[in-house]
Amino acid sequence: MNPDQAVLAKDNRGHFRRFFLGLNGPDAPTIERADGIHFWDSHGRQYIDATSGPVTCNLGHGNPAVLEAMNAQASKACFAWPVMFKSEANLALSESLSRLAGPGYDCPFVVSGGSEAVESALKFARQYAMAKGEPSRWKVISRHPAYHGGTLGAAAVSGDEISQEIFGPMMQAMPKVPAPFTYRLEPGETPEERARSAAQALAEEIERQGPETVSAFIMEPIGGLATGALIPPDLYYRHVREICDRYGILLIYDEVMSGAGRSGRFLAAHYWPDARPDLVVLAKGVGAGFTPLGLMLASSDMVDAVAAEGGFLHGHTYNANPLTCAIGEAVLQETERLDLITNADRMGALLMSELQVIMANSPIVGDVRGRGLLQAIELVADKESKAPIPMEHNVVGQICALGMEEGLAIYSRVPNAGKFGQWLMMTPPLIVNEEQVRDIASRLSKVLARCSDGLARDGLI
Ligand SMILES: Cc1ncc(COP(=O)(O)O)c(C=O)c1O
Repeated sequence: MNPDQAVLAKDNRGHFRRFFLGLNGPDAPTIERADGIHFWDSHGRQYIDATSGPVTCNLGHGNPAVLEAMNAQASKACFAWPVMFKSEANLALSESLSRLAGPGYDCPFVVSGGSEAVESALKFARQYAMAKGEPSRWKVISRHPAYHGGTLGAAAVSGDEISQEIFGPMMQAMPKVPAPFTYRLEPGETPEERARSAAQALAEEIERQGPETVSAFIMEPIGGLATGALIPPDLYYRHVREICDRYGILLIYDEVMSGAGRSGRFLAAHYWPDARPDLVVLAKGVGAGFTPLGLMLASSDMVDAVAAEGGFLHGHTYNANPLTCAIGEAVLQETERLDLITNADRMGALLMSELQVIMANSPIVGDVRGRGLLQAIELVADKESKAPIPMEHNVVGQICALGMEEGLAIYSRVPNAGKFGQWLMMTPPLIVNEEQVRDIASRLSKVLARCSDGLARDGLI
């Protein structure tokens, strides 16, 4: 360890620091408290939580009903292993989820986060294929780029070249097909043509792999950080569903970011009813920052088929623990009582119009996209050519740092070393109101102006 590192480690009191775009350096503020859509640091400075942390805190912070439910359950039973005991909290959460998610998703498998939920879906798809008498099916095709989690199974279906380069030898990488980006098209190409060829690439990959070896295709219906809130034209969803049906392959929607009301529907899948997935993965917004919670939603028919062959061979110690389930149920109750899904739809429309004004005025905003309160803005050096800003300028890091100076806490990072572009997520808590959306937009506009002025001064745009 060099002396500088020793000093940093000492100053940091052993805190395992993660360098993210130059954020979380020695000067990162220390959180003192959080309430509503705001954080306060130990010096009393206030920050707006413009992205719900990493797209997690759907109810904002400090919701009293959730805190009360947390206390009430903690004083009854924090933990009881679901193999030994059923819990009312787990049953109530399962009922609420299947009502909100709709028919076909009546058996939620409860875990502790998005990666665990993705792992569950991958393993469940494999066991379901075996239960149906198709033991040769095990491959799960996914998109590139994509992010489905940090554990090795989830990383194997994540389309991230850097992670692949470092951790590739430790995992069984799965086949990939291109994500249906429509911002940069070939001359004369339409978004629909791009979407059609991206779906066709799935059919071709299944043929290449051998259809009898493929169990599932996993995708985010509305992109998260890996694609910056990507939404292809509707025909993509229909074609993907038809292809999965044609080859007897399960369609898995990773709704870790898009689910739990964030898109303006409880599931983003509800926007495309003729392309219903077989399995849905949720996390982030269902625990909403109050507890680690992830879910795989399956139909009882599928679960029965696996149960009949001896049951799902997968689990974690904290599966469906009563405390987490009670908190998740309280989050869902508050989501409904406060009508937050409708609010996500309405505030999402306002946010989109504010971001479009920002795009019209900023030389470095080339695209805004997304739905509900899951939106992103793409940063470019030149709007005409759509050329990205060279990575060495760390523009996303600069904007996050300037955001902190303007009291705007923004979560972002650049996936795939910027190969597919650079964007910022705009995903405030679902409780956000009109005045707060305008405040976020006005601070963001100031931050972007400071950033683009600096880039122009240095002759970089
Ligand atoms: C789409 C998606 N899937 C899965 C995950 C993994 O979730 P977790 O970090 O809770 O393990 C994430 C996390 O960002 C995500 O965005």
